[in-house]
Amino acid sequence: MKLLLATRSAHKAREVARILGDGRRGDFRLATLDDVAIPYSPVEESLEPFDTFEENAASKARYFARLSGLPTVADDSGIEVDALGGRPGVRTKRFAPPGRYPDLSRDEANNRYLLERLDHVPARERGARYVCVASFIDPVSGETAHFRGEAPGRILREGRGTGGFGYDPIFQDDELQRTFAEISEVEKNARSHRGRAFRAFAEFLAGRS
Ligand code: IMP
Repeated sequence: MKLLLATRSAHKAREVARILGDGRRGDFRLATLDDVAIPYSPVEESLEPFDTFEENAASKARYFARLSGLPTVADDSGIEVDALGGRPGVRTKRFAPPGRYPDLSRDEANNRYLLERLDHVPARERGARYVCVASFIDPVSGETAHFRGEAPGRILREGRGTGGFGYDPIFQDDELQRTFAEISEVEKNARSHRGRAFRAFAEFLAGRS
């Protein structure tokens, strides 16, 4: 079975390929959007308007399943910060207000903004979790399924490490006492929200074939 992994993020694609590759039991071949030659369209920016990770992931999976005709998996992910009442959540990617840090990349701006918002929050109240929902759609049968993974941790006062992407330098895994940017890709995949969600998805695929 050819399975489309619908993401434009090279980091996510790499993590998911490793996670599914490592735990592979089902009979599927992973294809990326580039592999199936689906060019970028600005419509993609409006596929995630919903208030839950499940609805956003399903919206992306549905869109690309229709375009490709292939069984498709897409994920929506983000970070929920306790001191912000669970925000930014589904708005994680666009957390920093546009234009606020003109010299920074989007990831750098998001991290800077989060640190500023938590400036007065003491260590014991800086709990957070990464969340990932992988949604699968089979365009022929209409079968739909969601797989949720969460990774608990906390937001540090400054970044540490050079691995990973996004919020990883400021997100500490409390058990390891290291950030997701300070651990290897293998370690991150073993513990991360994406690892947990996609391993559950791999089990589902294995049960289907
Ligand atoms: P999405 O592409 O809508 O899922 O955006 C997810 C947002 O959460 C982006 O800002 C990512 O940088 C961030 N994010 C999701 N997963 C991770 C991760 O594993 N590490 C760091 N940031 C992440």
